[in-house]
Amino acid sequence: MDDHGLGDDPLERLRSWVERGREVVPHQDSMTLATATPDGRPSARVVLLRELDDHGLTFFTNRTSRKGDELRLNPHAAVTMHWWELGRQARGEGVVEEVSEEESTAYWETRPRGSQMAAWASAQSQPLDDRAELEARVADVEERFAGGAVPLPPFWGGYRIVPESIELWIHRDNRLHDRFGYVREATGWRGQRLAP
Ligand SMILES: Cc1cc2nc3c(=O)[nH]c(=O)nc-3n(C[C@H](O)[C@H](O)[C@H](O)COP(=O)(O)O)c2cc1C
Repeated sequence: MDDHGLGDDPLERLRSWVERGREVVPHQDSMTLATATPDGRPSARVVLLRELDDHGLTFFTNRTSRKGDELRLNPHAAVTMHWWELGRQARGEGVVEEVSEEESTAYWETRPRGSQMAAWASAQSQPLDDRAELEARVADVEERFAGGAVPLPPFWGGYRIVPESIELWIHRDNRLHDRFGYVREATGWRGQRLAP
């Protein structure tokens, strides 16, 4: 890819990396999401990037999970994506907002029924006695929604990371990589080259 310059829209370039990544890596778009407690203790996990537009990066989860609890009390998050095959890394930091119920429903309805059942059955991040407990919950949910559509759970939905800063990293020889840091300002993105 010929994108070694600073450019002026990092989200647009990130979108092109995600698209290129899909061509070379045969799996879904994953990203590492870091959240933190109000007193600044971080935690990180992988989630799937489901939407990337000018507003930010959207993922879906259980709002009562550990990440959901942390985001409720401290909406700041950081995210990283990495593609070995492309020699590219992207980082973003910003505030996370809940996506609307309409948007969550629209995505929910694209999910396979088994995934919908799992979302209802799993009190994500809570302790389980054993696997049988989870399977029993799945059986309960299957009975509850037998023959009908599975509705969006009230505890499940999307979050959008609205980036205030983005960094794009491009592999170069001898560790002399290209790094570009961008900060969102009222008039658009301000970028500068950073030492690798
Ligand atoms: C490739 C991959 C994709 C994942 N995608 C999601 C996702 O989109 N949403 C989600 O809630 N968990 C996803 N997970 C599971 C999370 O990594 C994590 O285990 C879960 O969300 C609970 O995290 P928490 O306890 O910090 O809230 C994914 C895991 C992997 C390995």
